Amino acid sequence: MERARPPRWQPPRLCLSSGKGGVGKTSLAVNLAFALADQGIRVLLVDGDLGLANVDVLLGLEVGATIREVLTQDLDPRAVLIQVAPGLAVLPAGSGVAELANLSREDQTHLGRLLAGLARDFQVVLVDTAAGLGPAVLWFNTWAHHNLVVVTPDPTSLTDAYALIKVLSRSYRRRRFLVLPNLVASEAEGERTFAALSQVAARFLEVELNYLGSIPADPAVQQGVREQLPFVQAAPRAAASRAVASVAAQVLGSIGLWHSSPQEEAGS
Ligand SMILES: Nc1ncnc2c1ncn2[C@@H]1O[C@H](COP(=O)(O)OP(=O)(O)O)[C@@H](O)[C@H]1O
Ligand SMILES: [Mg+2]
Repeated sequence: MERARPPRWQPPRLCLSSGKGGVGKTSLAVNLAFALADQGIRVLLVDGDLGLANVDVLLGLEVGATIREVLTQDLDPRAVLIQVAPGLAVLPAGSGVAELANLSREDQTHLGRLLAGLARDFQVVLVDTAAGLGPAVLWFNTWAHHNLVVVTPDPTSLTDAYALIKVLSRSYRRRRFLVLPNLVASEAEGERTFAALSQVAARFLEVELNYLGSIPADPAVQQGVREQLPFVQAAPRAAASRAVASVAAQVLGSIGLWHSSPQEEAGS
């Protein structure tokens, strides 16, 4: 049973980023969303990769209107949502619209208000973001209450994850980051990857990094992409699926479902 919510209550918002592309943000955002929804939690998954949307591709969705039309044609964002499973809705983005990734100040304010209104129907909001440190990536990270950084053992991924954390901490006063190593060969490699990032962050930045566990390199992930199905459903016993389920439990523990926002809504 749900308790009555305070008037300005907002569900926790968790933003997945990495700096580097191709490290598994979209795959993990989609599958984490399914894993949370499987536990009876109402999840809104926002495709925050506004120029090169991928969430719809991973799920084989037919997309009509997107965040772009919501912003440019004042569409009701509820009309754009796609219900992909009981308790899981996707707010799709478009592809090939480079200017939206530059999210102007005006668009940021507008989007912040629309998303906050939409979010109230859900218990948690996940945002998948683009690669790089563009304005939309930074905005979604500051709009979110929790920042999850996906990283792989690849040194270039570590460097880019560090750059993202540096910008968010120095320029946007973010202090706490959840770190999720992906594509690891073993749990030990996940731990080493986290340790490498932590050491350099502790030395140069005032941040707290929290380890969420790691996701192994697993053919079930690529299979899921090819079949346009979430691997946690198509292959629930696969190593990556079990790891995502464990990360979902960790995420719930660290974000707290009844968290109410200490921050004012973006733009208000
Ligand atoms: N744990 C994993 N095991 C195997 N392949 C993975 C894993 N995570 C991601 N991939 C593969 O890496 C590629 C990039 O993943 P994607 O989620 O699109 O990354 P991003 O959103 O960071 O660009 C995809 O082909 C995906 O199947
Ligand atoms: Mg992606």
